Amino acid sequence: MTDSPETRFRTSQLEENDGPPVNPTDNRTMGEIIAARFSRRGFLKGSLAVSAIAATVSPLALVAADEARATEGSAFKFDELEAGIDDKHHVAPGYDADVLLRWGDPLFADSPEFDPVKQSAEAQARQFGYNNDYVGYIAIDGSAEHGLLVVNHEYTNPHLMFPGIVKIVEKDGKKAAEVAPLSKGQVDVEMAAHGGTIVEIRKEAGKWQVVRDGKLNRRITSNTEMALSGPVAGHDRVKTNADPSGTKVIGTLNNCAGGITPWGTYVMAEENIHGYFSGELPEGHKETANYKRLGIPEGAYEWGAHYDRFNLAKEPNEPNRFGWIVEVDVNDPNSVPRKRTAMGRFKHEGAESIVAKDGRVVFYLGDDERFDYVYKFVTKGTFNPNDRAANMNLLDDGTLHVAKFAEDGSVEWLPIVFGQGPLTAENGFAGQADVLIETRRAADLLGATKMDRPEDIQPNAGNGKVYVMLTNNSKRKADQVDAANPRAGNAFGHIIEIVEDGGDFAATKGNWEVLLKCGDPSVADVGATFSTATTANGWFGMPDNCAVDSAGRLWVATDGQGPKATGRTDGLWAVDTEGAARATSKLFFRVPIGAEMCGPLFAPDDQTAFVAVQHPGDGGEDWEAFGRPSYYEDLSTRWPDFKPDMPVRPSVVAITKQGGGKIGV
Ligand code: FEO
Ligand code: CA
Ligand code: CA
Repeated sequence: MTDSPETRFRTSQLEENDGPPVNPTDNRTMGEIIAARFSRRGFLKGSLAVSAIAATVSPLALVAADEARATEGSAFKFDELEAGIDDKHHVAPGYDADVLLRWGDPLFADSPEFDPVKQSAEAQARQFGYNNDYVGYIAIDGSAEHGLLVVNHEYTNPHLMFPGIVKIVEKDGKKAAEVAPLSKGQVDVEMAAHGGTIVEIRKEAGKWQVVRDGKLNRRITSNTEMALSGPVAGHDRVKTNADPSGTKVIGTLNNCAGGITPWGTYVMAEENIHGYFSGELPEGHKETANYKRLGIPEGAYEWGAHYDRFNLAKEPNEPNRFGWIVEVDVNDPNSVPRKRTAMGRFKHEGAESIVAKDGRVVFYLGDDERFDYVYKFVTKGTFNPNDRAANMNLLDDGTLHVAKFAEDGSVEWLPIVFGQGPLTAENGFAGQADVLIETRRAADLLGATKMDRPEDIQPNAGNGKVYVMLTNNSKRKADQVDAANPRAGNAFGHIIEIVEDGGDFAATKGNWEVLLKCGDPSVADVGATFSTATTANGWFGMPDNCAVDSAGRLWVATDGQGPKATGRTDGLWAVDTEGAARATSKLFFRVPIGAEMCGPLFAPDDQTAFVAVQHPGDGGEDWEAFGRPSYYEDLSTRWPDFKPDMPVRPSVVAITKQGGGKIGV
């Protein structure tokens, strides 16, 4: 989910609401260039990019040239999928894409079947939750075909979930949608649809199945009791009327990406927490500046009308209890998830980790907001591969660092430690707990580099590199450009590659370069840097989640493409990072219109790619190809005839090669 203040519809494509981005090289905005390139007429023909180019070059010649180029030196072998826009998902030829789990699917033997017109919080708490972002796999007995799938349920789209709450009205001569206030029962469904799912899955005869009576199956929701642990636990700033101890939190919010630790726990990143809080702080309250730095309260959700803890006037400290990394021990379905405060408080995107040479564990953390930062956390203790229990509190002690990217291609990881540099009493910090609660302000004072919305960050054990997804930043102005964020009005994002000093992931210095500037490489003004071997289907914009498979190859999922932005839906792209093929990208899978591509995750044997499809059918614009005037009107009139295969349920899809074998080999 993006960070726009306009979240009434809680769509992931809110970048469109921010006005057109600015192109510094001429007076045309990026939006105008794209609009010119992808005329509506072009869309309706199907393959947008090819039809746009076809005016000057024979399509057949293009295809032949593409085929010749694409195979040279690439680490990926599959026939590229055609980019485009429609209401279905598509995968490269020779692969199957099977829906494994959808919003509302039963997870336990006693779960009710999904019934969209009879939703209840009780049912939802026993069913697969809503918008699924992070997907992780924890093997059972080392198996690549039997394990626990863990999935984050980031946020809810009530206009897509609840029948009959959207009314189409005329406003200033234009059609607009009005969403009715939610009932308390609907708010309760939303709360139960958040959090995460842990579910046993098994591959049988080449197809993945959910094990409904799996002993470790679990739903985590906004009502699951959690512990605050680490330096902030018990601090005055996290005490509330309901929890005078400052150690017991109810629920987790907006879990975007995440990670699996080397010791097999599931970590969930709390991202856009600001939307859940409403009400006003008492005049002159000491948390005013802290909350402002995080955009709290935004009030996009109506939970504060029904529950005091989301109302700042009633529980002014509650927001300090969110914005953390949450660790879940999946081996015990009754375990209390722990919010690991040593890892900082901000809009956490993900938490992918790797064991450093000396055994300490390094977590790469993005703070997804325009002009916010890239972090890494290094544990104090070392990973013990022979004793799982010995690792269970590693995340309570360690050093959080923030990245400062220099123009010369070096990067410095600045420690965020009370008493060091400006992190002192003069600047309002009384100890490490204050520094962690206000991580962003601490990083501001340290002079961290303001980035173009850091999303997933993935270390690659195979080559020692770290890939940083920077999804976009339409607000960056020409005088704010720097080497690590080289484009003003960055509409399409970029990917940075870091190599830590001495190949040591725990190092405090490293070097970096831009792996890829995204967008359409055939439009010179965009300034994209895909290799010339990248076809008209192969380029993408808005990198978000990513994965490295066991062969060390990078796969990038996108969020925010679509008719207006790039003329193609979001999807999963295979990106070469090495050798002559570096910066060559190929389209492997794409989602229905309105959806965002999440996951992705490769099974340990690389024979399955699990991908998560968030909010299919969403998007605030008319889309005639759907045969309906708009998504919301369609839903409000068609819900009584709801069919389970309508492309409006968030889902996890398992992609396998027909006949078996590794993906993309
Ligand atoms: Fe939830 Fe930054 O995406
Ligand atoms: Ca994301
Ligand atoms: Ca990832």
